[in-house]
Amino acid sequence: MKERTLSIIKPDGVASGLIGEVIKRFEQAGLKICAMKMIHMSKSQAEGFYAVHRERPFFESLTNFMSSGPSVVMVLEAEDAIAKNRALIGATNYKEAAEGTIRREFATDIEKNVVHGSDSPEAARFEIGYFFNSLEIVGG
Ligand code: CMP
Repeated sequence: MKERTLSIIKPDGVASGLIGEVIKRFEQAGLKICAMKMIHMSKSQAEGFYAVHRERPFFESLTNFMSSGPSVVMVLEAEDAIAKNRALIGATNYKEAAEGTIRREFATDIEKNVVHGSDSPEAARFEIGYFFNSLEIVGG
C-alpha cells in the first residue's frame, strides 16, 4: 500500500549544499515528492514539531539548531515510504549509521544529522499535517 512520510533537510544539510544530493537519493529510491518547501522554522515551530522530545536533555539544543537557518520540508510517497526513507537516512547517530547512508556520509554530529524522517505512520500523519495542508500535497 502507498504510504506517505515527512522528511526534512535540516539547517546543516541546507548550509552544506546537500539539498540536491538528498533529493537525488530519495528520487532514485522511488520516493515520489508530492509536496516540498523551504522554511525557516521559528523556535516555537521547532518546539511544536519535536514536542514528543520535550523532556529529553537535547530538546533545547535541538530546537535551537532547527530554528537556526532554513530547512527543506517534503512529503514523500511510495510503497513502504517510511521504511525506505529511513533506510536511506541511516541511524540517528551517524557513527552507528550503515555504510552508504546519508547520515553516515554527511552528518557531523548526533544532532546535526542532515535529515529527519518520520519513524511511524502516526508520526508521519502528525508531521505532514504540521507543515502542509491537503491543498499543498499533490496526488492522491
Ligand atoms: P531526528 O531524527 O530529527 O529526531 C530527533 C532529533 O534529535 C534527532 O534527529 C537528532 O537531530 C536529535 N537527537 C537525537 N538524539 C540526540 C542526542 N542524544 N543528542 C543530541 N541530539 C539528539
